[in-house]
Amino acid sequence: VEHSTIASIFQKHFPGDIVEIKGWVKSKRKMKENVFIDVNDGSCSKKLQIVVPQQNKNTDITTGASIAATGKLNTTASGQIELQATKIDILGECSLNKGYPFAPRKIYPSEYIRQYLHLRPRTNKFASLLRIRDALNFEIHNFLHLNGFVNVHTPILTSSDCEGAGEVFVVTPNSKQLLKDMRKSHVSLEEAYFNKKAYLSVSGQLHLEAAAHGLCRVYTFGPTFRAENSKSKHHLSEFYMLEVEMAFTDSIEELISFIERLIRTISSEVLNKCSEDIANFQSTTLDVLEKNVDRFKSEYCAKEGLSKEHEMFLVKHCGGPVFVINWPKQIKPFYMKECVNDAIRVSALDLLGPNVGEIVGGSLRENDYQKLKGRIPEGNTELDWYLDLRKFGSVPTAGFGLGFERLIQSMLSINNIRDTIPFPRWAHNCSM
Ligand code: 4AD
Ligand code: MG
Repeated sequence: VEHSTIASIFQKHFPGDIVEIKGWVKSKRKMKENVFIDVNDGSCSKKLQIVVPQQNKNTDITTGASIAATGKLNTTASGQIELQATKIDILGECSLNKGYPFAPRKIYPSEYIRQYLHLRPRTNKFASLLRIRDALNFEIHNFLHLNGFVNVHTPILTSSDCEGAGEVFVVTPNSKQLLKDMRKSHVSLEEAYFNKKAYLSVSGQLHLEAAAHGLCRVYTFGPTFRAENSKSKHHLSEFYMLEVEMAFTDSIEELISFIERLIRTISSEVLNKCSEDIANFQSTTLDVLEKNVDRFKSEYCAKEGLSKEHEMFLVKHCGGPVFVINWPKQIKPFYMKECVNDAIRVSALDLLGPNVGEIVGGSLRENDYQKLKGRIPEGNTELDWYLDLRKFGSVPTAGFGLGFERLIQSMLSINNIRDTIPFPRWAHNCSM
């Protein structure tokens, strides 16, 4: 018999079929004649009940152990499909005595589970999180391709701090020869990467703009890095950002309706396709993100920067996601375009979402060569190439960045962002 996934058993197998399954034991009940073992293999959130006769020597299987079982599928009195095992093998034992941290059927706080990042994918809820995250990732790529966007890989090693906030990780080499040469020529460690400063990218935007100036509609979706010394439950040191750039776009309204359509579409797809996994979360805001037309549309004009408390208040006040637009120029990065007839503001937007506040940041891009030059510090030649984009065939361009983990955190009402990513990195924490 060929090995079947548990998802495929529920989808396309029938009572009477002989199958082999492999997975991890989730729980076990001993009855008079049989032992009932619930097994899951990660292919879906469902568990398959395996019936093992008491006389089988492998009925002492423990929760967490990996097993292989062969037998005939059968329908229970309640209509559930189960496997009557004729053969069952333990592939890998698992014992609480030897330090396995998860006892059968017990629900642990996420802080406890987070201490065991390597074992976290074995827990039902986090496995569901990973499947939902994968589905969202897929729907984002799908939506953008259906809308004519080209995926462009932007570099992770960069020489500019796109956001200008100084929250960059500096990259230094660890090659003995290089370090020797540097010492000889008195180059500082900080400038060691090909004799220049190099950082881990905080955003792929500037490179993406270069691509947009040849391909019109482009996006990138990869890891970005921020050296924020923050214990906040909304910040990671390494997070995934979807960045979109659209040439020939000069209206913030167009940008807003695009972002709205993106979030509505992926929310509705995931609501439909992942309902069983979503049921593992106490509350979700997916329906709010999918519908709520009026609220989603409300826009506020920013008078000043917003603290997290301000953001949360606005979302509560509006009863759903809200766009904040027209931000003061002085608190925003150099690349944002001035508002028409209002030089102290920029045509920028933040999308604030339930439970987390800022999910998306975007703007029209300054495409006036002189104005843009005026906002780059004198003597900074690092961005000459970026200025060139405004010198040769310049076009109005707009774009945004969406924090993938923030989106997941908002959608599934997850308290801490560290529980939205498989292996989180945050200030002082990079242990696995
Ligand atoms: O608002 P930010 O800093 O915008 C940019 O980086 C632009 N260059 C994007 C663009 O226009 N292409 O970051 C974008 C989003 C934020 O709205 C937030 O959701 C998320 O990235 N983000 C973080 N997520 C997790 N941890 C952090 N430390 C984050 N910093 C920003
Ligand atoms: Mg921002």
